[in-house]
Amino acid sequence: MEILKIDHLSKIYGKGETAVKALDDVSFSVKKGEFVAIIGPSGSGKSTLLHMLGGVDRPTTGKVLIENTDIYKLNETQLAIFRRRQIGLIYQFYNLIPVLTVEENITLPMLLDEHKVDKKQFDDIVKTLNLQSRLGHLPNQLSGGQQQRVSIGRALISNPAIMLADEPTGNLDSKNSGEIIDLLKMFNKTFNQTLIVITHDERIALQADRVIVIEDGRIAKDEVVRP
Ligand SMILES: Nc1ncnc2c1ncn2[C@@H]1O[C@H](COP(=O)(O)OP(=O)(O)O)[C@@H](O)[C@H]1O
Ligand SMILES: [Mg+2]
Repeated sequence: MEILKIDHLSKIYGKGETAVKALDDVSFSVKKGEFVAIIGPSGSGKSTLLHMLGGVDRPTTGKVLIENTDIYKLNETQLAIFRRRQIGLIYQFYNLIPVLTVEENITLPMLLDEHKVDKKQFDDIVKTLNLQSRLGHLPNQLSGGQQQRVSIGRALISNPAIMLADEPTGNLDSKNSGEIIDLLKMFNKTFNQTLIVITHDERIALQADRVIVIEDGRIAKDEVVRP
């Protein structure tokens, strides 16, 4: 089953002389449960693509369909709600809220949605991420690997259909990096959660079912490694 469809997507930043075409007519689709690695040189448009997939920034032209919803047809409020419920986003620099504790950072998407947090699900996530003893800590009291685990918890709490990660291990040493990827893969395999990861790390790309290479805002290669 196709969960994500990108149709002739382009993104131009700026106008006139200084305009930058960051994405140039990109189309592809992703199956439910697929683990896709996106690789390519710096400045090739990988983050731009992820932001378009995640409903964070509107494309200049083209469509993004997630579970058959044409997400950029939604208004801002609808899109914000859709994003919170269907998409988990993980960034290289974690993007945690510094004044909130670990527990508050993880449960924030549910609170914003005025949803009650499922205590059992919260406990399961916290246990899997090995954060039980850190729930009252603030982000700056944690290691990089722990902060990234909190951001994964925050992305998982609403059971999103798609998990998008932009160089999630770019700031971590190889041990922490391995643990983070193992966690993402575990949710991908156990819950059939679709996983799209931008990475510079060949060891990560080699674990994916499919590798998409982006160059100059276009798909240079799209290869299924594990059907
Ligand atoms: N907000 C922005 N405003 C203007 N140009 C941008 C913006 N974001 C990215 N770009 C440009 O778009 C191109 C692609 O950037 P990006 O998607 O961040 O690449 P990557 O993640 O592959 O390194 C680059 O030339 C970058 O300078
Ligand atoms: Mg980037």
